[in-house]
Amino acid sequence: MTQPPAGDDVKACCAAAYSSDAVALLLGDSYHPGGTTLTRRLADALTLSPGERVLDVASGRGTTALLLAGAYDARVDGVDYSAASAALARETAQAAGLALKARFTTGDAEQLPYPDSAFGAVVCECALCTFPDQAKAAAEFARVLRPGGRLGVTDVTADAGRLPPELTGLSARIACIADARPLAGYARILAAAGLRVLVTERHDLAMLRMIDQIEARLNLMHMTAPDRLAAAGLDSGAAPHVLGAARAAVAAGALGYALLIAVKDR
Ligand SMILES: C[S@@+](CC[C@H](N)C(=O)[O-])C[C@H]1O[C@@H](n2cnc3c(N)ncnc32)[C@H](O)[C@@H]1O
Repeated sequence: MTQPPAGDDVKACCAAAYSSDAVALLLGDSYHPGGTTLTRRLADALTLSPGERVLDVASGRGTTALLLAGAYDARVDGVDYSAASAALARETAQAAGLALKARFTTGDAEQLPYPDSAFGAVVCECALCTFPDQAKAAAEFARVLRPGGRLGVTDVTADAGRLPPELTGLSARIACIADARPLAGYARILAAAGLRVLVTERHDLAMLRMIDQIEARLNLMHMTAPDRLAAAGLDSGAAPHVLGAARAAVAAGALGYALLIAVKDR
């Protein structure tokens, strides 16, 4: 019987997948449902103050961090498991003239390379669900927040028992589905880490729009750049089936996307 991949293998696999060019072609700049519109909603709900120190955990190519630095005047640190993504985010910050306000480093969400109480706010978009030890990551969010600091999470929600087989396994885990939880499950993990949940919102429509976008871009790539699809190991033949299963799961309420805001009480 095939053994499930160990925690570090899952992290490395996920980090490699999200730093690939093919994923950038499919997803654009922002690697989560709702894109920068939902990031703005998250930032507004966090009521960020100008100059406030914010940590973006699993910052990917830096889109969230750069929006918070540019449009909200925050001083942002981004941390991602992928050295390639962190390097790309640094280059983008430099090009946008935001290198002094947005810094990026490589690190593990389950062992954040920052001291206790260093940040007024922590954000984590579409990534908590990929971490092998979500409770440990939540404890790290709480540790690096100052008392009274706020956490903003957006993430895939899933009712594991109702997901079809196409949406489980390692590739589904990398696609942020296989180890996603119901909204109440995330709230429990945050509460156990000492983070009191203040706001929860469902954004399932954003998940449907992302599925539509991936399908449209896959079709385009299939016609215009099939070699790039193949080089990235993307099987466009299987995609309609998997995307159809994802769409049906959203319609059935077994898959979706959500936003949570929590506070570390003083
Ligand atoms: C779906 S992408 C989201 C990226 C970004 N937050 C966004 O919304 O655009 C997931 C990100 O999580 C990162 N990641 C996965 N496991 C990680 C870990 N243990 N620690 C830090 N980053 C991790 C991946 O490298 C990838 O950049």
